[in-house]
Amino acid sequence: MDRRRRTAALAFVLALASLAASDAPPLAEMRWLAEGTDVVAALGWQPAECLFAGPAPVTRQQAMDIEIGRAAFRSPLVLGGQAARAGISCESCHRNGRANLSFHFPGVSGAPGTADVTSSLFSSHRGNGVVDPKPIPDLGAPRDQLKVIPSPEKLPAFLRGLIVEEFDGPEPAPAVLAGLTAYVGAIRSDFCDDRPVPVSGPGYLLDAIRAVDVGVVVLEGGDRDTALVLFAAARTRLGRIDERYAGLAKSQALLRKSSVDLAEIEALVRAGDPIVRGRLNAWLAGTSDLVKVLIREESRSLFNPKRLAASARLPRGGR
Ligand code: HEC
Repeated sequence: MDRRRRTAALAFVLALASLAASDAPPLAEMRWLAEGTDVVAALGWQPAECLFAGPAPVTRQQAMDIEIGRAAFRSPLVLGGQAARAGISCESCHRNGRANLSFHFPGVSGAPGTADVTSSLFSSHRGNGVVDPKPIPDLGAPRDQLKVIPSPEKLPAFLRGLIVEEFDGPEPAPAVLAGLTAYVGAIRSDFCDDRPVPVSGPGYLLDAIRAVDVGVVVLEGGDRDTALVLFAAARTRLGRIDERYAGLAKSQALLRKSSVDLAEIEALVRAGDPIVRGRLNAWLAGTSDLVKVLIREESRSLFNPKRLAASARLPRGGR
């Protein structure tokens, strides 16, 4: 290619790239909201999580399993495949473990709030070639309205099938599968509160801290694979905060530093370095400065319902 044509080709590629970038909504989640959804109701709030709050009536091991499952439930990497690339996790359909009445993913949903989990878009195993979207169940519904959860012995095989076959995900580490089973089983209608809770930066940061906290214990127990899933889940959470702080330099600088630090720790863990405990403690300690900055800038972020509503009203890409 001569120089001029090469320059023209490059300009074309750059134009395409910027078109793709400017077409993206400010939050990835906006891509799977049904037309006409009230964005503030759908993304500024979430249904309350139906987990036992207070001193848990469970053993230490069960409490740990629930924490592992809670983090895995919110991590797209657990689903792998197309779902992970699109940023979809269990939580995208089951918000805070409940349903998602506004979920609409082209090619996977029928009416809002439904999904075809045997869609070939997500699965090369189970794609049945039939469009048969089903309502996304509220996992906190009374047990007599659910099909699988009431039979705890069936849950691990059901969840493994969901990940490996329906979503083409990687084989989950045994502790991750045990964790998801424990988490889903710990969601109970008697612990549900009908009042929705706000989605907030500190709330997402707390999710990341919880994932790292349990990851530290898991790592001490020698389960590197599961610890890595948990640290990656925490980084994804930081990414979700970063998305909502677009253009807010102080928060974004700290968020990115926190994410890079964690990625470095993961590399050390992968390499078998036994001395990461100090770095993990430093990471955890660093979150107290981070939360202060997040709170200071929250009103200017997309965690502020007014900003969130305005961002959705803009023509796609206009900011
Ligand atoms: C694309 C949306 C979607 C995603 C992602 C998703 N689910 Fe579901 N889930 C559904 C739908 C739809 C059903 C109902 C299927 C049916 O009725 O056959 C369901 C059913 C379930 C059930 C059975 C509830 C019962 O009746 O007892 C459980 C448990 C569950 N999902 C947990 C999970 C977990 C854990 C993940 C992540 C590993 C996940 N789901 C990811 C849409 C989704």
